[in-house]
Amino acid sequence: MMTNDGANNVGTNVDQEFARLEAEARAGAASLASAEAIEEFRLEWLGRRQGRLKQVSEAWLKSADEKRALGQRFNALKTLVEGLLEAAATRGQETRWSDEALRGERLDVTLPGTQRLTGAEHPITRTMNELIAIFAGLGYSVGVGPEVETDYYNFESMNFPPGHPARDTQDTLVIAGQERRSLRDRLLLRTHTSPVQMRTMERVGPPVRIVIPGKVHRNDAADATHSPVFHQVEGLCVDANITFSDLKGTLDHAMKALFGSSVKTRFFPSFFPFTEPSADVQISCIFCVGKGCRRCKQSGWIELLGCGMVDPAVFGFAAEKQPGYDARKISGFAFGMGVERIAMMKYGVSEIGQFYSGDMRFLEGFGGGSGLAG
Ligand code: DAH
Repeated sequence: MMTNDGANNVGTNVDQEFARLEAEARAGAASLASAEAIEEFRLEWLGRRQGRLKQVSEAWLKSADEKRALGQRFNALKTLVEGLLEAAATRGQETRWSDEALRGERLDVTLPGTQRLTGAEHPITRTMNELIAIFAGLGYSVGVGPEVETDYYNFESMNFPPGHPARDTQDTLVIAGQERRSLRDRLLLRTHTSPVQMRTMERVGPPVRIVIPGKVHRNDAADATHSPVFHQVEGLCVDANITFSDLKGTLDHAMKALFGSSVKTRFFPSFFPFTEPSADVQISCIFCVGKGCRRCKQSGWIELLGCGMVDPAVFGFAAEKQPGYDARKISGFAFGMGVERIAMMKYGVSEIGQFYSGDMRFLEGFGGGSGLAG
């Protein structure tokens, strides 16, 4: 069979042999149905030691003459076998895919779907966004600043001089290991959103109208109404001829927009280093409509925020960067409120910790949780 029959008849015999081998290869490859069978076929034909092509080359391609006469034919056979192998492998891939598709179709589409909980705006975010929308309606834009703040922005530029007793009211969490920094540059977790007033004024000259929502930190023990991390919304309005009446009108409008048009406001003298005069704002109790109840301690009023006319000393710090903040030419008011406190009142929440617990039973009350998605 695969023997060299001599130079004269090698041509016809070998021709027939090659034709036979090609036919066998085609027939063998046609029925390859698994990865194992394909590998077996590869070994049978291309195996380095015992493969049929190896045997052919050993039998017929020994001399240079033979190689010259039969090399091309041999290479064609080899290319054919390789092509057959590749085609078989591709067929296998396609079969696997269509098998998977078939299995997919056997899914029981009448079974109930996977239930996924839908998300919703967290009540704190929702309250902040409501406040932002109210002030946006009055032409305010939104400003933000860092939660890790310097002593300068959190205190000094807000007119809390070093050693001032008002600093003690802020229960500040300071970052450790800063002994070599000047007091002014020492880092702390901001205790209020007020430093963003100064950061804003340093960036843009008057007039400015800005609301500042954000997270603040205090070294407070947690109880029903206190949390060491909470949120504030700050406001700042500076222009020529801004008066205390503007402040009263703005906050009265904001409280009515937030709690309903029948809500009343009243202003009491207070103290903040960065405003002069300063005031605490009370709203008529939204639970008893001013009659007196447990929530308002029978007074009919609830204290909700702090405010005042921007202290000229604060403008003095801002003027170092933006000379337009000249207290002889401009004036302004500021206010600051706790978001949790407002959200607790609006949504009847009695424990501040519920906002941070991630308890779905609580959050479902704000639109999250139920419903099918995906
Ligand atoms: N920063 C004050 C605090 O956290 C709140 C505040 C009061 C902000 C009066 C103001 C303001 O802008 O005018 O206690």
